[in-house]
Amino acid sequence: MTRRAVVKGVGHYLPERVVPNAEFEKTLDTTDEWIKSRSGIERRHFAAPDQTTSDLAINAAKAALAMADMDGSEIDAIVLATSTADLTFPSAATMVQHAIGNTTGYAFDVQAVCAGFVYALANANALIASGQADRVLVIGAETFSRIMDWTDRGTCVLFGDGAGALVLEAEEGTGTNKDRGILSTDLNSDGRYKDLLYVDGGVATQTTGVLRMVGKEVFRHAVEKLAKTADTALEKIGLGPDDVDWVVPHQANIRIIQSTAKKLGVGMDRVVVTVQDHGNTSAASIPLALSVGVANGQIKQGDVIVTEAIGGGLAWGAVVIRW
Ligand code: UT7
Repeated sequence: MTRRAVVKGVGHYLPERVVPNAEFEKTLDTTDEWIKSRSGIERRHFAAPDQTTSDLAINAAKAALAMADMDGSEIDAIVLATSTADLTFPSAATMVQHAIGNTTGYAFDVQAVCAGFVYALANANALIASGQADRVLVIGAETFSRIMDWTDRGTCVLFGDGAGALVLEAEEGTGTNKDRGILSTDLNSDGRYKDLLYVDGGVATQTTGVLRMVGKEVFRHAVEKLAKTADTALEKIGLGPDDVDWVVPHQANIRIIQSTAKKLGVGMDRVVVTVQDHGNTSAASIPLALSVGVANGQIKQGDVIVTEAIGGGLAWGAVVIRW
């Protein structure tokens, strides 16, 4: 028998304010047409001035717990992927822990930028597989609107705010790819590329800083690395592209999503796409897309899902789940 981390609930939260591309035309030398054609993004949500990343995470967590029919007090561990935690410390995860009425578990943040949710899922899976937790809340939540340079048209039109969450629970499986739950993971990073995508502030500068990106280079790495990590994760559990019901990619750019699907050999009719409505929400983009995919009837129990993401670090990876 093999302990598997099985998905019991999923939920998401998006801040109320929706910002269409046209709004950037007022302040920047840009157009709705450029943003749409180069990135696939049409609109994004921005948090209200008094809304923090943990606020978004708490709403998503409560939605996932409701679907799982669980109380926050029943959770053993909370793993929250974010690069925009409310404070330098304590973790945003401990803020969620408090809000869901949990005092017996443990909570921590994972920081792997846009690959954060894939890293958090892999770590949550390891906690369950090793017997260190039976029930884990895994969240991706971001307020990237707080780290934008609003004069840089090459970055500020691309990002948005939001949160998504999954509840995982240990179940005994057979150890084969027929089991429900997380089936395989593949994580990678390469710090040689740390200057391609970073925030120019932090503890060292005593400032929050803003996002800096060499977009073309990140694009090139994404196209090269994403299909490979997804293929590797599938191979590890004896599955291939034909077995995949849904690719749920990090939602950064529709052109990256399309070329990765093509390289993988999966048609766009088997890819969950939300980039047009959410923009790039970094670690929140995959759980948001999973939650939307379930809500609109695309993702069903028993489906084979492959998630893949790349971001600052560079850090990238993939997770295969039988839903
Ligand atoms: O989630 C983390 C991972 N991040 C990503 O995956 C992002 C990866 N990169 C990308 O998605 C794309 O590289 C971008 C969407 C950022 C840019 O698309 P691109 O096709 O690579 O455009 P580019 O950077 O090569 O820029 C083309 C032109 C430039 O003008 P020149 O130098 O050719 O005259 C830019 O200055 O487009 C210009 N440009 C804009 N024009 C209008 C850049 N941003 C804008 C803009 N509006 N917002």
